[in-house]
Amino acid sequence: MNEVKIHVCSNESESWDTLWKWRWFTRDVWEAEYWKEEQIALKPVLSLLSKLKVKSVLDCSCGLGYKTVLFAKAGYEAEGSDASAVAIKYAPQLAKKQGVRIRFFRSRYDELSSKCKRRYDCVWSDNFDEISTYEYLVTSARNIYSILNPNGKFVFCASPEKDLKKVIENEWKNRKRFDIDPPYKKGIIKITRVEVAEKTPEGILEHNIFLIEEPELLRAEIASLMNPRIKWTFEDFDKALKTAGFRKVYMTEGNCAVAVKP
Ligand SMILES: C[S@@+](CC[C@H](N)C(=O)[O-])C[C@H]1O[C@@H](n2cnc3c(N)ncnc32)[C@H](O)[C@@H]1O
Repeated sequence: MNEVKIHVCSNESESWDTLWKWRWFTRDVWEAEYWKEEQIALKPVLSLLSKLKVKSVLDCSCGLGYKTVLFAKAGYEAEGSDASAVAIKYAPQLAKKQGVRIRFFRSRYDELSSKCKRRYDCVWSDNFDEISTYEYLVTSARNIYSILNPNGKFVFCASPEKDLKKVIENEWKNRKRFDIDPPYKKGIIKITRVEVAEKTPEGILEHNIFLIEEPELLRAEIASLMNPRIKWTFEDFDKALKTAGFRKVYMTEGNCAVAVKP
């Protein structure tokens, strides 16, 4: 074996692309368990959507589209969008394999008003709470507002907890500092993921180190992502969303929050 090439992703967007590339490659290993986790995570959301009587849903941080597929299977007119080009490349393949037709398109939150071809009764995100700056929260909220029908609902993950330091400490206490997935081989590529967690004032920074072995070549790709980012209280979301025009913002069961467009 000759030199080892190490690539460190330069920003969050490249880190997501790298993560999704290797997640898709290794999906045989984790997919069955992930479907179960996604079904559990979506249960309170589906119960909420049924009470809100919405028909169409945009999953605006869809990743590979697992939740989007579950929305479609639950009978919603579902579409998926995400900033990651890699995720949006693979999501249609997942949907096809699951026997559902879903439109997926690439869009950051701040591009939704120009990239969406229609309006929705509901926009859902499991990533809005992970946004890094208050300015981007407001910009994203304005874009989400613009693609909702009148009386449309934006549903997102949020916590009612005010003491964020305590939440970070709890998360850190219950989290492995270090984890190694068993090596996975497909064709000539063998991949091993090492995860190293770091506590920061904004949450937990997860370093995903992918060790990629090919004949005569060893590479490493490092994708660092805040997982989770713990930076915003419900009051922060309330303020940002009302600045964007939403009328009412409230917490519901299962750490879901709802913002209502007038
Ligand atoms: C936690 S993952 C989503 C997981 C996915 N919903 C699932 O259930 O498997 C967060 C997603 O948010 C996307 N994302 C991050 N920043 C974004 C932005 N500014 N605009 C749109 N998507 C973004 C990432 O590319 C990533 O796919």
